[in-house]
Amino acid sequence: MKKVTIHTSVNHKHYELEIKPNLTLLSLLREELGLTGTKCGCEVGECGACTVLMNGKAVNSCLVLAPQIDGQEIVTVEELAIGNKLHPLQESFLNHDAVHCGFCTPGMLMSAKDLLDHNSNPTEEEIRTAISGNLCRCSGYQQIVDAIQNNNVSPLKG
Ligand code: FES
Ligand code: FES
Repeated sequence: MKKVTIHTSVNHKHYELEIKPNLTLLSLLREELGLTGTKCGCEVGECGACTVLMNGKAVNSCLVLAPQIDGQEIVTVEELAIGNKLHPLQESFLNHDAVHCGFCTPGMLMSAKDLLDHNSNPTEEEIRTAISGNLCRCSGYQQIVDAIQNNNVSPLKG
């Protein structure tokens, strides 16, 4: 299969990549760039474990073909913490016992980040809508909703 060349930004780093046209963004991140924080669950857009931000909007990376990110900006869960310092949203998940097995957590965090970047004071209903595409088999969701609602994220902290 003939490869295609794309130029993209992942976590504010610019890449020129030669890829197969049928590669998904999820596979590109995990297998080509080694960014395994983004999880692979269903691969059919059902679980949300693979959620990343594309131009600031949460998307299921298993449903995006890698050539579609040509010229676009991708942010993954690896971008949230700065060194050893967790992002306030990550701290809030820990403080609210919202991380159990942790498989859904990266996707939850990225959906929550999309929400909070556009709405710093969401209602419980808005939070539940924002994470409605993210499945969690462990927590029952309430701790996750609480963690997002009682976060210490300010627009300045990002
Ligand atoms: S792995 Fe993408 S939605 Fe499940
Ligand atoms: S914490 Fe286990 S799936 Fe959500």
